Amino acid sequence: MMRLAARGHDRVVALVGGLLASVLALGGCQSAAPVSERIAAWPAPVVRHARDAAIEARVSEILAGMTLEQKIGQMTQAEIRSIQPDDVRRYYIGSILNGGGAWPNNNKHASPEEWAALASRFYEASMSTDMATPVPVIWGVDAVHGHNNVFGATLFPHNIGLGAAHNPDLIRRIGRSTARATRATGLSWVFAPTLAVVQDQRWGRTYESFSSNPALVRSYARAYVEGAQGNLTGPGDVLATAKHFLGDGGTFHGVDQGDTRVPLGELIATHAQGYYGALAADAQTVMISYSSWNESGVGDRGTRMHANRYLITEVLKGRLGFDGLVVSDWNAIEQVPGCTRTRCAEAINAGVDMVMVPDDWRQFIADTMEDVRSGAIPMSRIDDAVSRILRVKLRAGLFDVNPGEAARSLPSSAIEDRALAREAVRASLVLLKNDNGVLPLARGGRVLVVGRGADSYPMQSGGWSRTWQGTENVREDYGTGQTLLEAVRETLGADAVTYSETGAGVDVSQFSAVVAVLGEEPYAEGRGDVSYPASLAHTARYPQDLATLRAVSGRGVPVVTVLYSGRTVYANDLINLSDAFVAAWLPGTETGGIADVLFRTERGRVGFEFSGRLPFAWPNSPCDSTGGSPLFPVGFGLRYAHTPRAQGPLPEAAPAACGS
Ligand code: BGC
Ligand code: BGC
Repeated sequence: MMRLAARGHDRVVALVGGLLASVLALGGCQSAAPVSERIAAWPAPVVRHARDAAIEARVSEILAGMTLEQKIGQMTQAEIRSIQPDDVRRYYIGSILNGGGAWPNNNKHASPEEWAALASRFYEASMSTDMATPVPVIWGVDAVHGHNNVFGATLFPHNIGLGAAHNPDLIRRIGRSTARATRATGLSWVFAPTLAVVQDQRWGRTYESFSSNPALVRSYARAYVEGAQGNLTGPGDVLATAKHFLGDGGTFHGVDQGDTRVPLGELIATHAQGYYGALAADAQTVMISYSSWNESGVGDRGTRMHANRYLITEVLKGRLGFDGLVVSDWNAIEQVPGCTRTRCAEAINAGVDMVMVPDDWRQFIADTMEDVRSGAIPMSRIDDAVSRILRVKLRAGLFDVNPGEAARSLPSSAIEDRALAREAVRASLVLLKNDNGVLPLARGGRVLVVGRGADSYPMQSGGWSRTWQGTENVREDYGTGQTLLEAVRETLGADAVTYSETGAGVDVSQFSAVVAVLGEEPYAEGRGDVSYPASLAHTARYPQDLATLRAVSGRGVPVVTVLYSGRTVYANDLINLSDAFVAAWLPGTETGGIADVLFRTERGRVGFEFSGRLPFAWPNSPCDSTGGSPLFPVGFGLRYAHTPRAQGPLPEAAPAACGS
């Protein structure tokens, strides 16, 4: 059996010093520079990870015995709703995925055992081909905040909340826990972490980003990958994916799959930093971004990342020494000009090794074989792609164990990690206002809970939760966790808590405090974009939240607002109506962590102090989506330990439309 002798954690990878200074000096006018300079602009890892000679020999041996059809099959990734195990056998399919909201037997409540049974069937099919050496199929999944598609699995806070925690060790443990949950269902590849360094919060994927701060993203990338991958062959180890390469968080106006208009220096200093962290931890796979890079900033669009040979092949695989596999995003190749969703020589020639063609995989195989026969794709490129796929599979020990079978060594309860998630929730909360020290709330009083978010799993969980968009779910679809209303009842006793969604008509004076839980509805990808010229004013999108606060505020009873959101939003009107205001991001299933911090202990002490700090700037005007003149800067966060002075009312404005 292959052992990964040379893969220790002792190898130091550091960046060449003076990074920021040197790359920023290169900003602008890059197109004219000779190629070597454009490569040298990228700080190289000081130490590269050594390869394992035995694995390399095995890669060559397996490759030598493969037909063209088998090679292209290995480069194909199909979706479980469009492929059967027997197809994997017949077409030598290299990988499958389940998209957001795809489950075994189309059963949203499928058990870990059902997942593992399906994983076994796919694996066995791949090992019973007529190849000289059968190559195991690998199953990838968007486990982006825990193993989120799986019924009963803990949902951790989305990345934006983890960024607020400023704690790489916490990320490492969450990566570890998610990997174990994934392996407990027979899967061995997660499409995480997202390393976008988001610059414009109108983007609907802002919550998948740890922070606008590249250094934080770099340190988290490393920690997550270390946690998730372990030594790659352990029973709780998975392959991690650094995504989406490159510049996904930099698109103009925050448009999903849009155009990133930045010079090379900024691409390196901001958007590439997470990849330095992930590669230092030896991430085995990289997913390409739908977005384009428009270096000159001129025109509608730059080069689609899926066609960017310079960044994928020369930089990532060359300069940065990445020897794992590059996978394309969902049907992304069709967006390369001149390509279709089943045919894109340009993407493969640019360096894409595995193509995510969820549905039309048969045609993709046929078209790609034709492209190789016609010479549109050189055989050397195919061999390189397949070598990388084989290398990663060998490193992960996939030839040696059926992951569906191996899942049995883990308890099915491994999909839950409630204590860790609750700890992460506590660490993610950012206190923005606490006039007269109304928080922490004493126990013993009667609390009125209001707001759409208080008893809503979808709102606390956000996108990529059981389904792709996080919508179309009812309480019974989660199978674990609690809402904040439930947590408050648990903390104070059900008799001490009254719930009214809107607060309308309630005699507030009967209560010692109001807890208002407001927020965004769930969304994923482009559906979450706040599209130009719309503003980031929360009230413009959710006027009912303002109405709720108006119903309870100014009655002489302190109002504590908890906001669930996947981005920082303009909320001066809501903040003015609140005595205390907490940014809780998208906490996931363990909202008890919020109650832990909001309430004093039974003995009247502070149980848990706020420790979160803003991962993104908090806007002071509805149109400031890029942190230009924030109300609260990145890093801001109040503590109980210092008594904040009462804040005067904030200026309120809510223009209907924003300028360029
Ligand atoms: C997303 C990726 C995701 C993939 C598979 C794409 O639409 O951009 O982040 O990994 O789908 O679900
Ligand atoms: C899938 C997602 C994918 C998306 C892309 C959905 O149907 O479930 O995983 O990211 O399509 O458009």
